[in-house]
Formats: sequence, structure tokens, C-alpha cells
Amino acid sequence: MAKLIGNKKNIAVFISGRGSNLKYLIINSKIKKSLFKVCLVVSNNPKAIGLKYAKKSKIKYYIVKYKNSNNLETKLLKLIKKFKIEVICLAGFMKILSKNFINNFNKPILNIHPSLLPKYKGLNTHLKVLKNKDKFSGSTVHLVTPKLDSGKIVMQKKIKVSKSDNQTSLEKKILKLEHDLYSKAINNFLSNL
Ligand code: GRF
Repeated sequence: MAKLIGNKKNIAVFISGRGSNLKYLIINSKIKKSLFKVCLVVSNNPKAIGLKYAKKSKIKYYIVKYKNSNNLETKLLKLIKKFKIEVICLAGFMKILSKNFINNFNKPILNIHPSLLPKYKGLNTHLKVLKNKDKFSGSTVHLVTPKLDSGKIVMQKKIKVSKSDNQTSLEKKILKLEHDLYSKAINNFLSNL
């Protein structure tokens, strides 16, 4: 049985663009047995399409300009404290958080990455899968550390790559599985805290 019913943990979701993972995190957070609640959305991109999901659900959102990152991260940490955020979830956030930020937050930061880590850290994962003729690909939810895409794996889900797959079809399949995987991984992670 899920713990913490009625006492959901506050999470912040960081995005940069489309925000389809954010959309499903919001939807899934409203399920009764969900252990988390999306309380804050942060985007480094004022034009991120995903911001519409925050607006629609009346979730506070904050746009950060990454010009002076030191100053900005200090402000961001204050905001996160104000919202009593227990876990930060990166969902297509295209900026790298500094070691300083990660250490100062001092609580878990999760990321969803569209590959079967430790394979294919960084960008262009689908292209790499296709080039190497891998039979499987998938997505990984992992803890964020200062080392890119290298933190402890929380949950992973794989799919078969078919001969007819191209970058677009692979991205579509993986994105679909991510929409379910991310919430499951967060709930699993929180239930083990
Ligand atoms: C996802 O594929 C995620 O794995 C990666 O960036 C993409 C974000 O998609 N980190 P969206 O913005 O959530 O639609």
C-alpha cells in the first residue's frame, strides 16, 4: 500500500520545451495514490510550450534567465525552499545544474533520459541507437549528480527497436513509455525514502 496518502511530497519540474513529461506528471499526480504533487514549474525558456500545462493546472511557474547562473541559482534555491520542494524532477531541462546548486539543494534531483543508461549519455540518443543497430532502447530515470547522466538508476524501461524504426518513430515510442515511467519511478523512489 502506498504510504503518505493525503501527505504528498512537493516536487518541482524543470523544463525547457515541449513539456509532455510535465503534462503526464501533473495528470498522474492527481491520482489519489500518487505520492507527489507538482507545486512548481521552472523553465529556462520563456517560450517553452510546456508552460501551458502549468498555467492550465494553476501551478506556479518561474522563468529563469541563465545569463548569470550563480545569481540565478541562488534565487532558484530560495524559491525552491519557499515552495517546500522535496524533489526536483528534470524533464527535458536543457541546462546543466551546477555542482554548487546540487549540493546546496541537498535533496534528491531526478532526471529522465531517453536511453538505457549507462548507454548513450548526453544528446542524440536515438541516432546512436540506430547507428549501432541496437535491438533495444528505452528510457531511464536516474538521480542527478554533477556528472552528466551518471547518477544512480531509479527505474528503467526498455522497448524493442524494429528494423523500420527511424529517429522520429523511436522518439515517439520512447516518449510514450516515459509518460508512464516517470511517475512510477518518482512514486517508487518516494516510497523507499
Ligand atoms: C524526453 O525524451 C526526456 O527523456 C528528455 O527530454 C525529452 C523531453 O520531452 N530528457 P518533453 O519536453 O517532456 O516532451
